[in-house]
Amino acid sequence: MVKGHSAGKGLSDEKVIVVDFGGQYNQLVARRVRECNVYCEIYSYRTDIEQIKAMAPKGIILTGGPNSCYEKNAPTCTKELFELGIPVLGLCYGAQLMMHILGGKVEKALVKEYGKTEVAVDNESLLFKNVPQKTTCWMSHNDYISQIAPGFQISAHTADCPVAAAECSDKKLYAMQFHPEVLHTVEGTKMIHNFVRGVCGCAGSWRMDSFVEESVRYIREKVGDGKVLLALSGGVDSSVAAGLLSRAIGKQLTCVFVDHGLLRKNEGDEVEAVFGSNGDFNLNFIRVNAQERYYDKLAGVTDPESKRKIIGEEFIRVFEEEAKKIGAVDFLAQGTIYPDVVESGLGGESAVIKSHHNVGGLPDYVDFKEIIEPLRDLFKDEVRKAGLELGIPEKLVFRQPFPGPGLGIRIIGEVTAEKVRIVQDADAIYREEVAKARLDRSIGQYFAALTNMRSVGVMGDERTYDYAVALRAVNTVDFMTAESAEVPWEVLQTVMSRIINEVRGVNRVLYDLTSKPPGTIEFE
Ligand code: XMP
Repeated sequence: MVKGHSAGKGLSDEKVIVVDFGGQYNQLVARRVRECNVYCEIYSYRTDIEQIKAMAPKGIILTGGPNSCYEKNAPTCTKELFELGIPVLGLCYGAQLMMHILGGKVEKALVKEYGKTEVAVDNESLLFKNVPQKTTCWMSHNDYISQIAPGFQISAHTADCPVAAAECSDKKLYAMQFHPEVLHTVEGTKMIHNFVRGVCGCAGSWRMDSFVEESVRYIREKVGDGKVLLALSGGVDSSVAAGLLSRAIGKQLTCVFVDHGLLRKNEGDEVEAVFGSNGDFNLNFIRVNAQERYYDKLAGVTDPESKRKIIGEEFIRVFEEEAKKIGAVDFLAQGTIYPDVVESGLGGESAVIKSHHNVGGLPDYVDFKEIIEPLRDLFKDEVRKAGLELGIPEKLVFRQPFPGPGLGIRIIGEVTAEKVRIVQDADAIYREEVAKARLDRSIGQYFAALTNMRSVGVMGDERTYDYAVALRAVNTVDFMTAESAEVPWEVLQTVMSRIINEVRGVNRVLYDLTSKPPGTIEFE
């Protein structure tokens, strides 16, 4: 099978590359560069120097990482990287490595710096153009640069760190001990802008409207008069992929939407309204109502991982059956986005984090020649911008993440049609009230889950023995850590009383305060 292709390559003449040394903010570095309208990709530090030369980037950024550069087997790069005449910016580990390789000295710091730190700028560095002389930056390091490399000059320091930044402006080599990519570095965006637009001289031509236009052209050229099949989940990524492919090739695209009966209330109909025959998009839309099939398979199953597996595998089976009816296609399209690429270890250096989410894998029996992944180069916020460009309704574009196994993992214990009804109704009320309070765009993810607990209550004069619904709302940047959100008490009160009054089978509403870790965002 051929690896997925997107339209991104060649989209922009100017590219900055991020060389990944395993730090936790590496995707953020690339995002910040793109916010300067400069296209940017992440590569592992293991990438061959010849490959880097062939890409002819306008700039190179070396990221942070957890190691000490002076230790044996620490991730490194060749000295040649600094001799290509291409501007290089080293961040944290990347800065230390630059000094280490070029003849400076890096040692264990006597005072470790962690958190917001005041940095004093010492000279007229291009990197600090329009940055105040004293500025708050995010530090996170155990080692420090005790001696700069020959030809370098110190350009910033802190109370505990003599070299917060250093540079050799003749060779366009820059080192920063702190993290400009993190928002706590107040002038970080400006510093990155100064590097990519100032030092590297990028013009900044990477824009969403041009992405859509170029992608449409690329897809048309690649697909020719071939047929494309896409599994549409109704989530942001597959919806935007559908919109983009539809714009490019119209009815040569067939979207299969499997309603597994574990979607949020009315969601199936909403997806059909947008992409079905009465919607605005020109494509073939097939909706498979597979609810009963899923409920049958899930009957009696209580273990979360088994439920995930059954839901994932059943999806593949249903999809394959539909694909068989359609016959051979030329391309199987997927809504893969850039963080998926990086997290699956194909882009940078990050550990495989999401594999447990993609339980079902790829269909085995779908007859296709090649995979096409039109969003492969985009971050989530860019996917949303592309979606708006394509005329996909805001409601869909700004949809929160929703797990593939859907309500199956928001119902603790066995899944039944009755429990699905309860959690759908409770969740719909919760979402309605959160939206009314205008909190729907500010809370990272929120939903109702159905606990497996039943308890005694009293309604009117009658004793009840019904389920407890749990409300969850978290704020998160990356979904890897999260804090419980402070939803105003009045909103929670309204939601509670509406759920108890309107949802049959519920007599108690709980609010989950747990952060992640130690909890997870979902309940199972
Ligand atoms: P957790 O529960 O792991 O969730 O803290 C982190 C993010 O991942 C989503 N999630 C899933 N997404 N399949 C998915 O496609 C899954 O099995 C799955 N489990 C969790 C969750 O909604 C949150 O955004």
